[in-house]
Order: sequence, then structure tokens, then C-alpha cells
Amino acid sequence: MSPSTPVVLVTGASRGIGRAIALRFARDGARVGINFRQNKAAAEATAEEVSRLGGEPLLLAGDVCESEGVKSIFCTLLDNWGHIDVLVNNAGIVRDTLLLRMGDDDWDSVLATNLRSAFLCTRAALRPMLRQKEGRIVNLASISGIRGNAGQANYAASKAALIGFTKSVAREVASRGITVNAVAPGLIETDITTQMPEKAREALIQQIPLGRMGTADEVAEVVAFLGSPLAGYITGQTIIIDGGLAM
Ligand code: NAI
Repeated sequence: MSPSTPVVLVTGASRGIGRAIALRFARDGARVGINFRQNKAAAEATAEEVSRLGGEPLLLAGDVCESEGVKSIFCTLLDNWGHIDVLVNNAGIVRDTLLLRMGDDDWDSVLATNLRSAFLCTRAALRPMLRQKEGRIVNLASISGIRGNAGQANYAASKAALIGFTKSVAREVASRGITVNAVAPGLIETDITTQMPEKAREALIQQIPLGRMGTADEVAEVVAFLGSPLAGYITGQTIIIDGGLAM
């Protein structure tokens, strides 16, 4: 593989949207760092698929909420490939419940996984990117962070904060050739949404102008574009991918 082959790190890439993003970059022949926290077997399956599609996989175990986990992920990535071109902050969780029933841990774990992780990984990626004078960062927000959602005060707060984080970092690093953008998916078919009660999911689908849930591949396509040289004049933006739900 040529030294100019892009190096991409996707957090939480063993399943769902993260896996689809890893595979989409693999189709372009990228070197893909596949971060996972616990499910090594699923991460290995993603890695096999990355290889099959023409990419080069690297498994990166580590909890992205923890400074030590992020240090170890970046050490391994940079030891192997020397630089990083694209960071995709994808890892995320939900702990849905009405605010009055929300426990301290429901709040803290969602904010740590969805927001602190992006802070830690972005800070770690910016050091090599600033030296290279180029880089692409893409954050997985959500339409919940734009319009709010009953039962998701913790999740919506984390995703709204991620949008503010995206704009602020975009302003800080624009002069160094680094772009920072977010995508805000609506209802996408993954393990996160299969946890939703069927009635609630059907009621939400009724409100989607395109009349269906989105797919992880449809999100991956936009992330790959924002991570590519084609998107060089786009920064600080949040691209909504929701079949028209939030318009
Ligand atoms: P998912 O639950 O299928 O995948 C999330 C991945 O993140 C899992 O592989 C999980 O192990 C990993 N992860 C969680 N905590 C981690 C940690 N501390 N360290 C490392 N990895 C960790 O979810 P899905 O649906 O693929 O979501 C991906 C992203 O897209 C999330 O940020 C989510 O909030 C966002 N999103 C998803 C939507 C949907 O409808 N599925 C809608 C809007 C946003």
C-alpha cells in the first residue's frame, strides 16, 4: 500500500453505522483503524470485511471515554501508520428515560461516551494533523441534538454539545487546512434503534417524509464525502440525514 493511502480512524466501528463507515472507506482502499471497546469478535469480522473490500485494517481496542484508552489507540495507530488523515467520532450510546427518572449514571455515561470521547479523540488527532497541515474530522451528532426528543435529555444534550464543539474546533483549525464537520442522522436501522419499542418506532416512521428508516450505508456515504478531498471547502457544518424528518 502506498504511503499516501489515507489513514482513517473510526471509533466504535465493530457494528452499526461505525462498521458501515469503516467498510465505505475500505472500498476506497483506505487504511482503517477499527476501534472497539469489548466485542473483539465483531471488530475482527469488520476487519476481515475491510480487507476483502481492498482496505487495510488495524484493530484498536480501547474505551474512548478514558484518556488512557485514547492514548493507547493513538499510540498504536501512529506507531503503525505514522499519521492520521480522517477521524470519525462515531462511538455513542443511549440511556433513554424521562428526565424525572433519569439517574446520575444515565446522564454521566451518555455525556462521557458521546461528548468526552470526541474531545479526547479530537485533541489526540489534532497534534499530528496540525503538523501535516491537513486533516478531516467528522462527528456523529443526531437530529435529537437539533430538535430535542422526549426521553432523551441526556442524549440530545450530548449531541447538541457535539454540534457546538464541531463549530468551535472548526474555527480553531481552519487556517491549518483541517476541516471539522458533523452529520446528524435521524432514524437509522441499527442495534440502537431496534431497542426502541415497536410502537414508538412506527409512530416516528409515520412522520418521515421519505416514509422509511435510513440505512447505515446512507450515513456512511455522507461521512466518506466529508472525509474526502472533495469536501475541502466545507467546515463547521452539520449535515442532516433523516429522510426529511427535521425540516
Ligand atoms: P450502535 O450501538 O450500533 O454502535 C455504537 C458503537 O459504539 C458500538 O460498537 C459500541 O460498542 C461503541 N461504543 C460505545 N461506547 C464506546 C466506548 N466507550 N468506547 C469505544 N466504543 C464504544 O449504534 P449506531 O446506531 O451505529 O450509532 C453510531 C453513532 O450514530 C452514535 O454516535 C449514535 O448516537 C449516532 N446516531 C445513530 C442514530 C440511529 O438511528 N442509529 C441516529 C442518530 C445518531
